[in-house]
Amino acid sequence: MHTQVGIVGGGPSGLLLARLLGLAGIATVVLERRTPQYLRARVRAGLLEQATVDLLTAAGVGERLARERLTHDGVEIAFDGRRHRIDLKGLTGQTVSVYGQAEIQKDLMAAHEAAGSNVVYEAEDVSLHGLTTDRPRLRYHQAGAAQEISCDFIAGCDGFHGVSRQAIPQEVIRIYERTYPFAWLGILSDTLPVNHELIYCNHERGFALCTMRSLTRSRYYLQVSADEDVADWPDERFWSELKRRIPADAARMLETGLSLEKSLAQLRSFVAEPMRHGRLFLAGDAAHIVPPTGAKGLNLAAADVRFLSEALIAYYQVGRTDLLDGYSPRCLARVWKAQRFSWWMTALTHRFPEASAFERRAQAAELSYLIASRAAQTALAENYVGLPIA
Ligand code: FAD
Ligand code: DHB
Repeated sequence: MHTQVGIVGGGPSGLLLARLLGLAGIATVVLERRTPQYLRARVRAGLLEQATVDLLTAAGVGERLARERLTHDGVEIAFDGRRHRIDLKGLTGQTVSVYGQAEIQKDLMAAHEAAGSNVVYEAEDVSLHGLTTDRPRLRYHQAGAAQEISCDFIAGCDGFHGVSRQAIPQEVIRIYERTYPFAWLGILSDTLPVNHELIYCNHERGFALCTMRSLTRSRYYLQVSADEDVADWPDERFWSELKRRIPADAARMLETGLSLEKSLAQLRSFVAEPMRHGRLFLAGDAAHIVPPTGAKGLNLAAADVRFLSEALIAYYQVGRTDLLDGYSPRCLARVWKAQRFSWWMTALTHRFPEASAFERRAQAAELSYLIASRAAQTALAENYVGLPIA
């Protein structure tokens, strides 16, 4: 079997790419190792830049998003028990949207189903071959039977733990990485969100984030140590720790309830360069990971997919190869700015167990500078709403 673009991974990157290419008449096959049920239930991201909303809309999956998303004009930073609002709209003219990644996943899956796209779920043992030839191949097993697809190009959209990045020889790939000595414990519950906008809380017991999925569904995160076990966090312990970390007025308002989901996410900064090897192009978490603090992961993935779809469409429609050649540097310029911001925002809001007294004082000074300086708030706001697409 032959296809034009073979796509490894049916998460948001892979399915969005397949959608944009499909609308341009380019044939794709998506190989995803999980089941549809598993993908629909995966919680993860919640905050979208306007550019991501626009891209999803261009891909024909913007209808429910337009109806159900919550638009936020600002965001709060809390420390020393006080709340400070950053006026995103006033400072940048732009807003951000709350709409869960699981909903995006469902919308993309439904659109592919309606279009009759070739999406293979439960594809096992996916492997990549002939990447530096003009006929790269994907091999996999489906229900025990071996399959092979030859492609013009392969897009590696299989996330951080996928096989695509591993298929690039070590001598041609450079890895830049930073790990953090803590993780995020997240909880989802059908309770009223404690505030109509997000609150990022710096507290001596550790960072906390109050976010949401809808007007009646809350999402909260706590900084915990990297080796924490979810089983040690029954709901009551989570809620009581959250109450201690958020400002007192918010804690009084906090509605608690049964958790629908509870999960742990490690924090990591990671970039693999270049994002291309021969006819393989990496996109999204397969090429880079940011700590979640700046809400950049899914938005960066969407920007990669936009650039890659533009490059592939230009190749198929008018024979241009310059956009394919420029793909990796174009993405990486944006990736590094988001890396810097996510690392900075993590450093600003978290408690680092090994921090010296000097570093603690400098963090406190940075927070008090931020709330007093319009210039500092503008710098945060323009990164948070998303840098312009270049
Ligand atoms: P993934 O979502 O990881 O998808 C990769 C797909 O490939 C998966 O479906 C996987 O099953 C499949 N796959 C893997 N290996 C194989 C294989 N060998 N063969 C076939 N298929 C394979 N980002 C934001 O922008 N805003 C936020 O608010 C935000 N909050 C977050 C909160 C948390 C707690 C976490 C953990 C992440 C958050 N992110 C956020 C990041 C965001 O979730 C990711 O950046 C996003 O999922 C990346 O999409 P992707 O499609 O590139 O990778
Ligand atoms: C969410 C996650 C984030 O990492 C973030 O910075 C903002 C919001 C969320 O899950 O809603």
